Amino acid sequence: MAEEGIYRSRLEPAFPEATRYASSMKEDSWILDEDIEATIAHDFMLMKQGYITEEQFRKIVYAIKKLLENKHLIQVDAEKYEDVHELIESFIIREVGMEIGGLVHTARSRNDQVVTAVRLKTRREVFRILKEILDLEKALLKKAQDTIDILFPFYTHLQQAQIAPLSHYFLGYFDIILRDFDRILDSLKRINLNPLGSVAIVGTSLKIDRELTTRLLGFYGLLENSFDAVSSRDFILEVVSNLNILMLNLSRMMEDFIIWLTSEFGFFTLPDELAFPSSAMPNKKNPCILELARARSGRVFSSLTQLSMAYKGIPSGYVRDLQETKPPLIEAFETVRETLRIIRIVIENLHENRDRIRSSMEQSIVALDIAERIIEEAKIPFRLAHRLVGEMVKQSIKKGKSFRSLGEEELREASLRILGKDISRLLTSILSKRDELLVSLRSSRGAGSQSNDMRMLQERKKTLEEYYAKLDRMIEEDNLAKKTLEKHVKSVVEDFAFS
Ligand code: ARG
Repeated sequence: MAEEGIYRSRLEPAFPEATRYASSMKEDSWILDEDIEATIAHDFMLMKQGYITEEQFRKIVYAIKKLLENKHLIQVDAEKYEDVHELIESFIIREVGMEIGGLVHTARSRNDQVVTAVRLKTRREVFRILKEILDLEKALLKKAQDTIDILFPFYTHLQQAQIAPLSHYFLGYFDIILRDFDRILDSLKRINLNPLGSVAIVGTSLKIDRELTTRLLGFYGLLENSFDAVSSRDFILEVVSNLNILMLNLSRMMEDFIIWLTSEFGFFTLPDELAFPSSAMPNKKNPCILELARARSGRVFSSLTQLSMAYKGIPSGYVRDLQETKPPLIEAFETVRETLRIIRIVIENLHENRDRIRSSMEQSIVALDIAERIIEEAKIPFRLAHRLVGEMVKQSIKKGKSFRSLGEEELREASLRILGKDISRLLTSILSKRDELLVSLRSSRGAGSQSNDMRMLQERKKTLEEYYAKLDRMIEEDNLAKKTLEKHVKSVVEDFAFS
């Protein structure tokens, strides 16, 4: 019991209210497995260094095994402990006595212990997020493939701007979210470093082997300076910042579909299975999932705010404020993972209404494409072509005619007024070019045209495969590290296994 817990050698028992307020037990179940893994690696290292005998190590591991088998008891006891670290050590001491159990925490402090577990867990949570990102990316590519033949109005200022294949939109989001993947993956370099062995703040005189625990726990390297190692949580701020950017991107994408799902737009239909009704209006079909995904970006931003507030201005070295970095980190991971998953399901199940998309387009949406044809074929400066087409749009509105059906006479008038010469025959022929043809002429790199999108799609399919393979390798490495640690332990404790 924390009230008279194992750490309180110079202190009277704590008030239960004090323990309850200080305790991180609620959020610590998140790092339970990682804390046990790091404890085993640490004690294995202590055994190799001669601080613990094989027999003692065996007893310690048996106690840990018993704890793993009785995980359900942990919540029952939750209120009594300051944190999971105290719980684990207390449990071992209770099981095997102080003589042996008291060795477990040699050359370690909760200060290096907690941040070791959090770094390990963060590494794994990052892998889960990266996997969800790739699954969403796959859905976006599939959607791009299926919509390459649909001409779609692209918007600026939420006003119709230009047409391009709908695939161009999905390919665009593929690239946006791939950058999120890259950012989160890159942060792994700074997350996956080993603080263990830094002890309370300036290390130890005991002969520990930090390189060994680095290898045993699958860290990419050592977080060398002991003071930095126990003091810093910039890796948490970094990963949550990256998650925040990802959520902002997803939120914008959701907003697009919320607009396109309105009856005014009607570009897409959501299957009933992903829509929600009204308790009052029997006619309603609401895109609640998309709205929530949009709103939940706020949760991740608030995680980042909480972290920043907890971190700002605290003195260097461990302070208990750092405990408060766990809950927002956990919440950010959970929110992002669930959001990625549901958005993937939404993308997979969205139905595009081709007729509605087609009929919504203003004829003048090709105005810039027409102006570019005039530049190419009449060799006049862009600004004049802009004026001429602008005049044509204006006349068509004034005369209540559609842009494409301006007659030779009207075109001559416009041409003479703006250019001082008559190119009405050329204009008539350009105006008669079909949308598909105008779009197909967009051959500049990255422009929205079928041939471009086709190429981009093929390249990105390959990229996605490479990303999946890379991620699989990293997860495999992580599993292998755990397996190797298990094997090492097994060489001393035959029937040991994680889970
Ligand atoms: N529960 C603490 C945390 O999550 C563990 C470290 C406590 N260290 C200390 N010196 N009180 O941060």
